[in-house]
Amino acid sequence: MKNSAQSHCPFHASNKRNEEATEFDMFGAEYQHCPASSLQSFREEKPIFFSEKMNYWVVTRYADIREIFRDPVVFSARNVLEKFTPDTPETAEILRSYNYGMNRTLVNEDEPIHMERRRELLDAFEADKLEGLRELTRTLVTQKVDEFIGLGKVDLMATLLWDIPVIVALKFLGVPDDDISVLQQYGVAHKVNTWGRPSPEEQQHVATNVGKFWHYSGDVLERMKRNTDGQSGWMYDMIRKNQTNPRVVTDNYLHSMMMAILVAAHETTATATANAIKHLLSKPKLWQKLHHQPELIPAAVEECLRYAGPIVSWRREATQNVQINGVNIAKGDKLFLVMAAANRDPEQFENPEELDILRDNASEHLSFGYGAHQCLGRNIGRLEMCAFIEELTRRIPDMTLSKQTFTATPNTSFHGPEALWVEWNPEAIKGTETASVFAIGNPDKRTIVRQAKVVAIHTVATDIKEIVLASEDDTLAFPHWTPGAHIELHLPNGLNRKYSLCPSVNTANYSIMVKQEPEGKGGSMWIHQNLKLGDKLPIQGPKNFFPLQSHAQPVLLIAGGIGITPMLSMAEQLTRENKAFRLLYCGRTRDSMVQNHQLKKYEQNIELFISSEGKRLNLDAELKTSPPGTPIYTCGPEGLIHEIQVLAERYHHILSSELFTSQSNTLNPEKEHAFDVELVDTGKTYHVPRDKTLLEVMLDNNVDVPNDCAEGLCGSCEVIVLGGGEINHRDHVLSVKERQSNKRMMTCCSRASGKITIKL
Ligand code: HEM
Ligand code: FES
Repeated sequence: MKNSAQSHCPFHASNKRNEEATEFDMFGAEYQHCPASSLQSFREEKPIFFSEKMNYWVVTRYADIREIFRDPVVFSARNVLEKFTPDTPETAEILRSYNYGMNRTLVNEDEPIHMERRRELLDAFEADKLEGLRELTRTLVTQKVDEFIGLGKVDLMATLLWDIPVIVALKFLGVPDDDISVLQQYGVAHKVNTWGRPSPEEQQHVATNVGKFWHYSGDVLERMKRNTDGQSGWMYDMIRKNQTNPRVVTDNYLHSMMMAILVAAHETTATATANAIKHLLSKPKLWQKLHHQPELIPAAVEECLRYAGPIVSWRREATQNVQINGVNIAKGDKLFLVMAAANRDPEQFENPEELDILRDNASEHLSFGYGAHQCLGRNIGRLEMCAFIEELTRRIPDMTLSKQTFTATPNTSFHGPEALWVEWNPEAIKGTETASVFAIGNPDKRTIVRQAKVVAIHTVATDIKEIVLASEDDTLAFPHWTPGAHIELHLPNGLNRKYSLCPSVNTANYSIMVKQEPEGKGGSMWIHQNLKLGDKLPIQGPKNFFPLQSHAQPVLLIAGGIGITPMLSMAEQLTRENKAFRLLYCGRTRDSMVQNHQLKKYEQNIELFISSEGKRLNLDAELKTSPPGTPIYTCGPEGLIHEIQVLAERYHHILSSELFTSQSNTLNPEKEHAFDVELVDTGKTYHVPRDKTLLEVMLDNNVDVPNDCAEGLCGSCEVIVLGGGEINHRDHVLSVKERQSNKRMMTCCSRASGKITIKL
């Protein structure tokens, strides 16, 4: 659907913004209060900027951060755990006195050793190995809630969320949980030490705790090493690997990893859950919804991780001179990647400021990072978050957020409340007893749907019907959408069809237009022949792969046939903003073209080209005479779009286009070839049979690869090709040059002639 050659100009920021960029401070009040909001205007005007004060490039856009995460060679992870506040000589002395020797662990080491180790260590994190942890988490959560349910008011952090992730992590590691409070304290010390700004006195206190943590974990490790027989847990696996493969899993690595994994697993999960509960309770309807429909909890967890993830920023260092989105970054420069800002990027998430638990692409958030270093423990974090939220929404549906002032320790990267006070009436507990069990892993996006009902059907041309849908759900209104957005209908005949949203008289409703296509796959025919008033339909979206940008120049909209639908909302918006535009609308006959009140509103901007009346659009003449750099938006059949692409390139215009549908993912197993794919991120080789796409195979194997259209239209399932056989590109996203370079492929449709090696 998408083919956008546009992006904001990263240099086009106001003087004020430039000054603010220079002085930007991650410890400033605004960033500390809400990292996402504090960077919103930067993301729009100056998405990558250099803060002289902090000596960091700050990166705020989704696409840029994802690209950086994807390249662990150009963007090294070596500075991930560098201290923001360097040690004073006194602090260094304290650490020395404990023989503190924390070395690199997975998260901050580089290729190739990082991947070699990651492969050795990742098996235990696979979703099918985590059933035991899910059971344990559930039992622990139930016990804790039993202890406080009669109280009516608690700090959830202190009573529930702070302890369980440590116990679960220790179980995962196989480490005894006899001294968890010591571990918790040391974990916090590690956070302040690395990402905080402690005073010299605080720093000494922190260093003492870090030193003790180092000692403690060393002692535990020694004890464990003495008796490994029959013991299970990740640390025992590592100890055995240390014996069989000491080059890769060294002694120091064991010790450092033991400490690192506790930090990785503890505060992240506790804070992620606290953030989620805080935001869900801020909208009591959502809490109630999850009580009545617990099957939505895994989707809600992903959305909460997008909206308010616990790790708001992460770091990388450039290993060579490189350009990102037009900005030159020099070798050695440090990058501060703000995932919190990226997770609210409107170019990636429609209506991003809204907490929308039915957002089906929420799991594309960057809160777990992406690519080679993507969080290994994400499925552990997810299963714990699901268990916490399930138990609380089920047993205490009337829980409310107490009045409180949230506090947090100032730091650059972890964000969430230190305490979370909630209350309920213990006399009136009306929760249900039967607990829900969720699949471990990324929730299946096909199951994340909204319920809609047909409230109007109008004939707007001979073979085009306008269908108006209202939310069937009293508690959840349809989210807002922007021009160019679409929804996907799940039809009772098993087909899923996408339709652009059109302006609706009642803005709470969604309106789409459907052209009857006898030669199509059967979706439009079903709608024309069967859909009636009052019918209920599951829908997904809205999502926008075809957004209307803000332009100073007059805009040219070109629609072919039913391609008029996204243009209606674009024309409406441009009219509202008093911006100059022309809409060229091509069709075969006047009767087959939409003639409704909307088009009448901007009659003076529209020119009709009706072939049966002998008036055809001369595209070459039109684009040749348009001033270079004209923003063009087009939607229509493939032939029209292709012609415009060629001409737009020739006459230097800026083109965004959207195709209706594609046949790219249609597989004919008789004619396809099977092929093998090595995914360097997991070190595993997958076989792609004749009747499956590479995307399907990866999803079957729990590889979290973003995906959306499954038709080669949106670009979200792209992977990097490192080598191997020829790629048979079948998508509509890559340019001819990109295809020839054989460096990227869309996994939902493209195939390979022989074994290939890829990375996410
Ligand atoms: C790495 C987030 C829970 C183990 C990471 C990274 C992030 C992250 C942002 C860095 C990714 C990158 O550099 O691209 C989270 C969040 C969690 C969570 C939000 C909870 C909601 C856990 C748990 C464990 C864990 C429970 C272990 C039991 C790890 C490990 C890495 C990592 C081992 C390093 C992977 C590598 O560099 O190859 N996590 N994490 N995490 N996380 Fe998590
Ligand atoms: Fe959209 Fe593959 S191109 S999922």
